[in-house]
Amino acid sequence: MVPWAMPSNSITITDNRTGKSYELPIENETIRATDLRQMKEKPDDFGIMTYDPAYMNTASCKSTITFIDGDVGILEYRGYPIDQLAEHCTFPEVAYLVLNGELPNAVQLAGWNKELAAQASVPADVTKIISAFPRSAHPMGMFISAMAALGALHPESKNISDAANRHLQTVRVLAQAPLVAAASFRHLAGEAPVSPDPSLSYAGNFLKMLFGKVNPVLERAMDVLFTLHADHEQNCSTSTMRMVGSSHADPYSSVAAAAAALYGPLHGGANEAVLKMLAEIGSTANIPGFIEQVKAGKGRLMGFGHRVYKNYDPRARIIKRTADEVFEVTGKNPLIDIAVELERIALSDEYFIKRKLYPNVDFYSGIIYQAMGFAPEFFTVLFAIPRTIGWLSQWEEMLRDADQKIARPRQIYLGGRERKFVPMAARS
Ligand code: CMC
Repeated sequence: MVPWAMPSNSITITDNRTGKSYELPIENETIRATDLRQMKEKPDDFGIMTYDPAYMNTASCKSTITFIDGDVGILEYRGYPIDQLAEHCTFPEVAYLVLNGELPNAVQLAGWNKELAAQASVPADVTKIISAFPRSAHPMGMFISAMAALGALHPESKNISDAANRHLQTVRVLAQAPLVAAASFRHLAGEAPVSPDPSLSYAGNFLKMLFGKVNPVLERAMDVLFTLHADHEQNCSTSTMRMVGSSHADPYSSVAAAAAALYGPLHGGANEAVLKMLAEIGSTANIPGFIEQVKAGKGRLMGFGHRVYKNYDPRARIIKRTADEVFEVTGKNPLIDIAVELERIALSDEYFIKRKLYPNVDFYSGIIYQAMGFAPEFFTVLFAIPRTIGWLSQWEEMLRDADQKIARPRQIYLGGRERKFVPMAARS
């Protein structure tokens, strides 16, 4: 075909090894990696692959759940901007939206809340597992273990081809995640558990089970924080959920795996790391010295930077506003002054400007959580609870997607081949 007659929605690649040209269709600004496989030097070659460590430029799925435009700082769930959802909705409403694609009407929301309330009790065996942990245990390890245990206790959850069964397990995880977290919280504090109160909101009930009382301002703040954390498309933990789920493991095991991915300090564990960092900095006078250390490659400014956002994370903006409301009730967390000054200095520093490093969701969330009475170790659990709905919605979408199969990346093998076996006595 002559170049000017080619359809515009394609790309032509010439393999200079053979001089052959290939026309690959472009769909959604993407070419299919498997289309490259036809490019071979010799007929029995495997064909060209793409090398993309850390999946910097690989779309692993098609999704209709969450949209992010990282260059301008836009986040939408099912097309609705995050700030509107945070302002006007409750978290269960947002969870319904993320899972089902539409905002619930009043009847649907009442039914959804009823479904959640009906599943809001944790099997006694899981409570026993939680109380078997020493008081020094990290609550994320407890959360991950409890999720895996729920899978063992609900063997019917393995039947992932039944849509009604998947829905039941999804409701269970969402309803029980705060209970598991509260049981861990009370155990670590050496306090007796507080029973759930189904007459309270999702966030209110959670606070009641933690602290035995509910302040409406803190309840609203917790609800907003839950909404902000509900989903964030194909990050490390969500990709883990899809990866493990693609082997048709039960949803609890997949959620346990996703939670383990979230635990890391470069992902959901960053909120805990931010608090430790702010405490170490200690006062605004020490910020310039700390920034110089970061620029010299001695550690990172935790809560800054993002693989996708190259602008202010819209969730960080909302959290910063929510902090003021929380402090009206709890009193100001002095670390906020260090955080605000750190942000001001970093955002005017060439190092951070050049690399487009802005505050992310974890920069301010820990300061609120600490003011509310949580220890830093618990912050990632507060991230995991609402993220369960994102993980499960992505899992549901994956299972319904005819393009998806068990996930199995390729590798470029660069090791030795066909080496002669060396017996133990002959090894140096
Ligand atoms: N502080 C200092 N320098 C940074 C930071 C930071 N927080 N983040 C990135 N950089 C530098 C990095 O050193 C590199 O510089 P150079 O080009 O000179 O080598 C450049 O910016 C690009 O960094 P990268 O590591 O290639 O970026 P990435 O997309 O692989 O990493 C990130 C993204 C979030 C892991 C990283 O920005 C980071 O480690 N941030 C701190 C941890 C954090 O706050 N994580 C929470 C992420 S948001 C919530 C979530 O996902 O759970």
